[in-house]
Order: sequence, then C-alpha cells, then structure tokens
Amino acid sequence: MVFDHGYHGRTNLTMGMTAKNMPYKQGFGPFAPEVYRVPVAYPYRWLTGADNAATEAAAQAIDMINKQIGAENVAAIVIEPIQGEGGFIEPAKGFLPAIVEYARANGIVFVADEIQTGFCRTGQWFACEDEGIVPT
Ligand SMILES: Cc1ncc(COP(=O)(O)O)c(C=O)c1O
Repeated sequence: MVFDHGYHGRTNLTMGMTAKNMPYKQGFGPFAPEVYRVPVAYPYRWLTGADNAATEAAAQAIDMINKQIGAENVAAIVIEPIQGEGGFIEPAKGFLPAIVEYARANGIVFVADEIQTGFCRTGQWFACEDEGIVPT
C-alpha cells in the first residue's frame, strides 16, 4: 500500500510505488502490479477542509483496503511521514497514527520512508517521532 503523491525511489519496484509518472517514471516500466495507492491527508487540498483531512483520509484509505484489497493481502503500508517530491506535504495530524493503528490491528508491516525526513531534518531524529508513531 502506498499513498497519493508518494515518492519512493528509482528502482523498478519503488518507481511502481511512486505516484507521479512525470518526471520520475517516464520512459521506464512496465512496473510490478499489485501496488495499491490510497488517499493521503493533504490538508491544503482536502475538499471538505483541512480540519477533516486526517479522519476522512484515514477512513477512505482503510475503507479501500478493506473493500478492494483485503487486509490479509497487504504485505506492507509504506509512507513518507512528510511527502517530499509529491509537493512537501505534511499529512494532517492524526492521519499517520490512525494508519499505524490499522496496520497493527491487522498484522500489516508499517514502513516509514524517511529518506527525506530522517536524521534530524525535521528537528528530531525521525519525523515519526512528531506523532509518537513507531514503524514496525
Ligand atoms: C522519499 C524517498 N524515498 C526513497 C528514495 C530513494 O531513491 P533512489 O532510488 O533514487 O535512491 C528517495 C531519494 O531521494 C526519496 O526521496
């Protein structure tokens, strides 16, 4: 599982996990199937307003997993705690903990891609610390 606006790299699998074709994936592929993309809580552009972004986006993401994929079929949920190449998007507070809680409850590995946020770039060792979440 990956998220709208996500960027995860330039190998074949991580390009498949990356949202934008232009410029990151142009001329590459085909990519691995069975990578599913769900909404992220993008407060600035959330249609019903920033205050609703965390709860509504988490509910939509979880609903898509439950209804379209099946939690038991998900190997891992991968997300950047702050999205970089997607437009420097900080998910609305509460979104990441809701996703982590769902992953825990369903035995899904939660991976934080901290390539752009780790090692004190956001003020703490890892951006996950901001919301008290622990990738496992
Ligand atoms: C969020 C994120 N994930 C993963 C990567 C790894 O990318 P690459 O495959 O180019 O090493 C990067 C590189 O900038 C990144 O910003």
